[in-house]
Amino acid sequence: MSQAAFPATRLRRLRTAAWSRSLHAETSLSPADLIWPLFIVDGSDVEEPIATMPGVSRWSVDRLVERAQEAQALGIPCVALFPNTPAGLRSDDGREALNPDNLMCRAIRAIKAAVPGIGVLTDVALDPYTAHGHDGLIDAAGYVLNDATKAVLVEQALNQARAGADIIAPSDMMDGRVAAIRAALEDDGHPNVQIMAYAAKYASAFYGPFRDAVGSRGRLTGDKKSYQMDPANAEEALREVALDLHEGADSVMVKPGLAYLDIVRRVKERFEVPVFAYAVSGEYAMIEAAAAAGAGDRDALVLETLLAFKRAGCTGVLSYHAPLAARLLTAR
Ligand code: PBG
Repeated sequence: MSQAAFPATRLRRLRTAAWSRSLHAETSLSPADLIWPLFIVDGSDVEEPIATMPGVSRWSVDRLVERAQEAQALGIPCVALFPNTPAGLRSDDGREALNPDNLMCRAIRAIKAAVPGIGVLTDVALDPYTAHGHDGLIDAAGYVLNDATKAVLVEQALNQARAGADIIAPSDMMDGRVAAIRAALEDDGHPNVQIMAYAAKYASAFYGPFRDAVGSRGRLTGDKKSYQMDPANAEEALREVALDLHEGADSVMVKPGLAYLDIVRRVKERFEVPVFAYAVSGEYAMIEAAAAAGAGDRDALVLETLLAFKRAGCTGVLSYHAPLAARLLTAR
């Protein structure tokens, strides 16, 4: 393309007025692009604020249903659920994940009964249920076992699907789990339950507040580097995505978000499939800290970063700022 020289070309011309900026916007953001992650706690009528995520709370199932209603009223199509399992129910093998009456399943059923029109995404990984805080089963040396874990994850996914989950989202990074979960869902009569694979999930320092929220931070021994990806790697992310798609993932996720937009872009260009990113807890906390320090305007930071996800190629974004963003977008 040849571009006429100045002054025939003045790129500022299109930026002169608000109507023109709006007309020429290459990317748009709407509440329909958002998935709202929510934390669940036992009890009734409970709201428990999370100190490292100012503005985010854990909700008991009854109050969680109100959040799902709020999401629907705001035009947010889907919520993602994460339980804070009572300490007494955590074990080395994370068996509470398979209890059909665990917090997660009660929450799924309550939301699907009260707000059937909203999508419910559930995380598949054992960390909210294990006494050691890892996503899978460990051996005597603390190594997370792939194949033994995979077998439990299949049961966990079925438990969630039977309770009514719409999207199963394995976040564990075990090899081969998408194929195993897909086959089990088909066999068990859930052909339309989707799988959103956390395909490129990095061993990140941005997950700290989430681990407070689900109560796994203090328990975690060591790190998750033997299963989550090295932040140095991008080609490996493409291999992860290729495998998960081959195994039957309907959509894929990149996580964390902002620091990994290059991965989002490469995945989108290479595979042309629905790509989601997770603006994780540490990213939420950074924006809140900047706003609290007077270093930036919260509303503007939230909308600019969410738009950046869309520009990078995301179909949608998981964000703790989803309700704020939806309100801002609706008010405009
Ligand atoms: C658990 C899981 C994590 C997150 C989502 N699912 C934490 C981890 O892998 O340690 C992080 C989300 C966030 O930080 O907001 N497998």
